[in-house]
Amino acid sequence: MFQTNPFARRENRVIKASPTVLVIFGATGDLNKRKLIPSLWSLFHDNLLPDPCIIIGASRSKLTDEQFREQLTDKVRAYARAKFNDERWCEFCNKSLFYQSVDGGKFEDFVALKARIDALTAPYYSEFEYNFYLATGPEHFGSIAYNIKESKIGEPEKNRLVIEKPFGVDLQSAKKLNSELRKFYREDQLYRIDHYLGKECVQNILVFRFGNGIFEPMWNNRYIETIYINVYEDIGVGSRAAYFDQSGILRDIVQNHVLQMLALLCIEPPVSLSNANSIRDEKVKVLSQIVPIVDKDVDKRVIRGQYSQGFIHGKPVCSYAQEAGVKEGSLTETYACIKYEIDNWRFSGVPIFVRAGKRLSKRVTEILVYFRRPPNLLFKGRQIDSLESNVLRIQVQPDEGISLTVNSKPPGPRLRARPVVMDFSYKDSYSDSSPDAYERLLLDVMKGDPTLFTRGDEIEVSWQLVDPIIEAWRDSREIYYYPAGSDGPKEAIQLAKRQ
Ligand code: BG6
Repeated sequence: MFQTNPFARRENRVIKASPTVLVIFGATGDLNKRKLIPSLWSLFHDNLLPDPCIIIGASRSKLTDEQFREQLTDKVRAYARAKFNDERWCEFCNKSLFYQSVDGGKFEDFVALKARIDALTAPYYSEFEYNFYLATGPEHFGSIAYNIKESKIGEPEKNRLVIEKPFGVDLQSAKKLNSELRKFYREDQLYRIDHYLGKECVQNILVFRFGNGIFEPMWNNRYIETIYINVYEDIGVGSRAAYFDQSGILRDIVQNHVLQMLALLCIEPPVSLSNANSIRDEKVKVLSQIVPIVDKDVDKRVIRGQYSQGFIHGKPVCSYAQEAGVKEGSLTETYACIKYEIDNWRFSGVPIFVRAGKRLSKRVTEILVYFRRPPNLLFKGRQIDSLESNVLRIQVQPDEGISLTVNSKPPGPRLRARPVVMDFSYKDSYSDSSPDAYERLLLDVMKGDPTLFTRGDEIEVSWQLVDPIIEAWRDSREIYYYPAGSDGPKEAIQLAKRQ
């Protein structure tokens, strides 16, 4: 079902960005190695990068261009969407990939960086656009932003700054960071990354909602009974325990990825899809209408969980407490289930359960929209006691797709009803594999399109929704343990039961 018409398919026409300089701070870090460079390579491989595109990895380590490229080769082989090809990789390296040692706090390093950029761009006689990607710890954001501006790299009025998460650790720190960055840059120069917004299926939420006549009229509390947003991971905290122990799943996943998906799912139609701010205005509006959960309500509407020992895909794994880097007696949540409500005309009374966790039985990110059941008058006494709800399932990953469960009569002489699934999968419907989220986001930065990036006020309003929960947990020792490889604490399953 939901076949796409192959004759209606059109080539994606891609407009290339202008000649670009992209400086990546934190270039020896994991994000750059596993995500950014593999994505840039895939874009180069598919001829989507601007030409010329000068990429400079910047970090404190002293490395030559060759050493830097060498460090990346295996990572690109392992993580890139596009197939590795020696010849093209060499071409990419020689043409586009460079390294410069920079300490984010040292002005003189930025003077040297500017000289390097000038030397690399000079042979092209072109006007370049300058993008700076801050893939460092948030403590360096302020000084790097300041030094770029002070050393007059690029065109300070036009430069773009890409900022990785975490953007603050609470509302106060996010506000501080926003005001620090705004001292040097206008809001439209700031690109705050939430990589979930680059995922194909997340982008599809708006097209699915507003591009189909059948869903929007039903997208309200008259027809929708319950919504679930689940971000389940089977991985643990691995080598990131020290960071995660300070963060927890609320800051790591809920404040950003989950609330962004929730916002897109529940926004009012924006004035235009081609104006970044009209979508972001609507997101801010709906996020501000979510009722914050405070004080004693936290116990009733939120479950905090932490994994204990268990098995993942048959292999024994340790508890969170035993992970290297976790503080003794840590009450950091590796799982959370929250019952939110939106106080607006459209969604009032519809519970929205948000669930996110590590070391669960499977890796899946999905949105489930349960519609109200039809009245059962017609089928009573005819072996159909209750009809199942129609469920719209947006599966963000893995196996991206959208499905709808409907009741149907199985063949045979008896009148019965059984749920069947109509489904659309990207794999079966589109010949092209989906790009990595970072590919899309990097291209958008280079083109200067901020639609898929979070605005400062969006970030702040999201913190307002998680801060009170974190605050309440500070005074409580209540935490529910779940075995690694399970579906989370049973108390969460209880809380999220449909009425
Ligand atoms: C990151 C979190 O933002 O998202 C990680 O910091 C998490 O803890 C990751 O594992 C999940 O991303 P994805 O794309 O694998 O779902």
